[in-house]
Amino acid sequence: MLKAIGSKVDLSDSELEYNHLVADLLKNETVLKMKEFPHHGDTTCFQHCLNVSYYNYKLCRFFSLNERAGARAGLLHDLFLYDWHTYKPKKGERLHGFTHASAALKNVKENFYVSDLEADIIEKHMFPLNITALPKYRETLVIVIVDKYCGLLETVIPRMQKVGRGIKKIGMKIKRLPQE
Ligand SMILES: [Fe+2]
Ligand SMILES: [Fe+2]
Repeated sequence: MLKAIGSKVDLSDSELEYNHLVADLLKNETVLKMKEFPHHGDTTCFQHCLNVSYYNYKLCRFFSLNERAGARAGLLHDLFLYDWHTYKPKKGERLHGFTHASAALKNVKENFYVSDLEADIIEKHMFPLNITALPKYRETLVIVIVDKYCGLLETVIPRMQKVGRGIKKIGMKIKRLPQE
């Protein structure tokens, strides 16, 4: 079963329009390789890309934009294929935050056909950190927001769940205490 964070929809369901748009990518070895790399907390790079892809699709659909490009480029936008936590930039190279979008686009172009729109979405998803990479399309503005929103969910939700479990444990202990 495949689910985006905060959603109950099974994205592996071939009846879904979303699944239909990205089915080939979901089976692709290079895309699946992203499962090997951690991204935010316990979230893998693959799961993060799936989250971004699904919410990109939903928002693009809502605004009558190109939902196919949103879904596909969302799934490929962080295809840089290394653990960014331990990544050391080469001499003269800028930090991961500035370079990974271009690295992802290079990998994507080596493995898949991408339209100009999809390339723009991938290459410029880090705007405004990459202030010179100005979004050319509205779909790119969508990923700029969705990527940050998903990053926040992936960081905050697991922490809230941990706090919730902690509170539950304390509650159980209090219940077990002898009463007067
Ligand atoms: Fe990114
Ligand atoms: Fe991302």
